[in-house]
Amino acid sequence: MDLEYIIFKVEDGIAWIQFNRPDKLNAVNAKVLEELEKILFQCEQDDTVRVIVLRGNEKAFVAGADIKDMAAGDIQSAYALTDLTLRVQERLADLPKPTIAAVSGFALGGGCELALCCDFRIAADNSRLGLPEITLGIIPGGGGTQRLPRLVGLSASAEIILTGESIKAEKALQIGLVNKVVPLPELISETAALAGTLKQRPSMALRAAKTAMRKGLSMSLKEGLHLEQDLFCMLFGTEDKKEGMAAFLEKRKPNYR
Ligand code: CAA
Repeated sequence: MDLEYIIFKVEDGIAWIQFNRPDKLNAVNAKVLEELEKILFQCEQDDTVRVIVLRGNEKAFVAGADIKDMAAGDIQSAYALTDLTLRVQERLADLPKPTIAAVSGFALGGGCELALCCDFRIAADNSRLGLPEITLGIIPGGGGTQRLPRLVGLSASAEIILTGESIKAEKALQIGLVNKVVPLPELISETAALAGTLKQRPSMALRAAKTAMRKGLSMSLKEGLHLEQDLFCMLFGTEDKKEGMAAFLEKRKPNYR
């Protein structure tokens, strides 16, 4: 794949997607989003990919959408940018495989929003997360006003979105924005360890669990419970269910396909 701003590799079942526009703190422009879209499509199709990790460099995960590009923009170009952003984010959020954002340095605006699309966020202790759009005279346009409140509640979201001030990793952990904070030098090994655990889980059950949680969020409790029931019952038709339960009864490790 011909990539300018992203380094992509698959190693031992883990797809590592590394934003690589260091001179702009990995700020995201249309080209970055188009590259990300292609990579995510490949990750979805490639059966050898079991877990997807998004990462940046030590100084920045992603410092937001490219402000230089947006500065010259009008209403029409804002729609074009957000259409593309939402399309790529939807692909990321809807991936049927587990996703992890390994955050170090700045994860601001569109960068924070990409991390919000992942199933897990592991933050290095030097991370600063936030949605500073309000300081630019706009509001988050990549799902920030919707995904953040669903994750951390209205009160903590209001603090972040209305002040535009970034928060440190420890505060992000305290409000539930990230799953774990680790020393910067351990970010990649901790992420690989989590990915290693997820890799061992059966893929159909992972997919069903993600669907139940994500779709359920926009349903009534009753609808969500029925969705869960359907997915639960569907899994009884899988080889992985037979293997998982047989392995338990035979006191051995399951060997999922
Ligand atoms: N867009 C474009 N360029 C960016 C950028 C961004 N979001 N963030 C950083 N850069 C560029 C800087 O312009 C600078 O480039 P030059 O050397 O060519 O001037 C380079 O990256 C290094 O940045 P700084 O010199 O500013 O580094 P710093 O360490 O002093 O400050 C920072 C770091 C606090 C993150 C600061 O760069 C900053 O505030 N960046 C903007 C953050 C932001 O507002 N993000 C939200 C964007 S809006 C958005 O994302 C909309 C959406 O939801 C879709």
